[in-house]
Amino acid sequence: MNQQLRAAGIAGVGYYVPERILTNRDLEQMVDTSEEWIVSRTGIRERHIADPKQTTSDLCVNAARAALRHARTSVEEVQLIIVATVTPDFPFPATSCLVQERLGARAAAFDLEAGCSGFTYALVMACQCVSAGAFDTVLVIGADILSRIVNWKDRRTCVLFGDGAGAVVVKPVAQGKGLLGFDLGSDGSGADLLKIQAGGSHTPATFETIEEEQHFLCMNGNEVFRFAVKIMGESAERALRQAGLTPQEVDCFIPHQANTRIIEAAAKRLNVPWTKVFVNVDRYGNTSAASIPIALAEAQQQGLVQDGSTVVCVGFGAGLTWGSCVLRW
Ligand code: ACO
Repeated sequence: MNQQLRAAGIAGVGYYVPERILTNRDLEQMVDTSEEWIVSRTGIRERHIADPKQTTSDLCVNAARAALRHARTSVEEVQLIIVATVTPDFPFPATSCLVQERLGARAAAFDLEAGCSGFTYALVMACQCVSAGAFDTVLVIGADILSRIVNWKDRRTCVLFGDGAGAVVVKPVAQGKGLLGFDLGSDGSGADLLKIQAGGSHTPATFETIEEEQHFLCMNGNEVFRFAVKIMGESAERALRQAGLTPQEVDCFIPHQANTRIIEAAAKRLNVPWTKVFVNVDRYGNTSAASIPIALAEAQQQGLVQDGSTVVCVGFGAGLTWGSCVLRW
């Protein structure tokens, strides 16, 4: 990375998950599934589900306040807000603008849509903005309420997801710390593997699209699985190479929390020992853009990420997209 730029990194982390917990046993009452199938195929035991009155911006505001508190940063200092989400409050305006208003910030604001990779994309953008001197304090939030777009009659998908939000405050940091390397990518040839067919300019909403349930998330799980295992290792390796580090030098590996089997395979491919891999998918399911910042916040709270730790975050998701960041805490 350009040495003339100032270093930028995470000054504080926070998260919020809704109160209501939906267990695998609860799902057994809703679709033809079993605790045994869900745990053995995904590692997920329970997930949090937003109250019908809660919106994505509500989750964002709670996570943002926690991150600002942790970073000992006042809302007046925030100059830019980026919200990564695939479940915005409205198609427009951007959820980030609603968050800006609710927080009382005087800041630029935009949403970023890169599926479950959204947070890693947004974090890289924020660090680059701060490194270049364009902004001093950027609030990055990954938030999703996937329970609103999941087909609760489809056992292949509804058992996988949960709701939540995670946030970080990005600021200038000491040289040698912060973002050391990254890798972002996309492959639109896989766009059909994970999508919502209707409701956009391609297939606007009609009575027929609703009757045909085209407004729900639809996924080819096996293909996404194959893609995820391959890309997570490759992308993390590229980011580490850019940072001039090896997988052996990683203190904490924070993968997108989609499925324990995907995480195990990616860690194996990267040759990172399991003791350094952070996993909380059992308690939250796949929270999409929120999964990495929630995991980061919990890892930090548990002392697994400390001053000087080298952390690698790796995401993948709809698009298809992927993103990795190497951070020195
Ligand atoms: N309960 C019981 N049985 C089920 C369930 C369920 N919830 N879901 C599927 N099955 C059945 C299938 O119907 C199939 O039965 P059949 O053989 O009689 O047809 C059988 O279980 C095996 O199904 P597979 O799809 O082969 O199961 P697999 O082991 O591949 O696991 C899974 C499926 C968990 C979806 C896996 O493929 C996966 O995790 N894929 C990646 C998904 C992912 O990470 N998505 C997030 C992307 S990020 C984003 O942007 C949101």
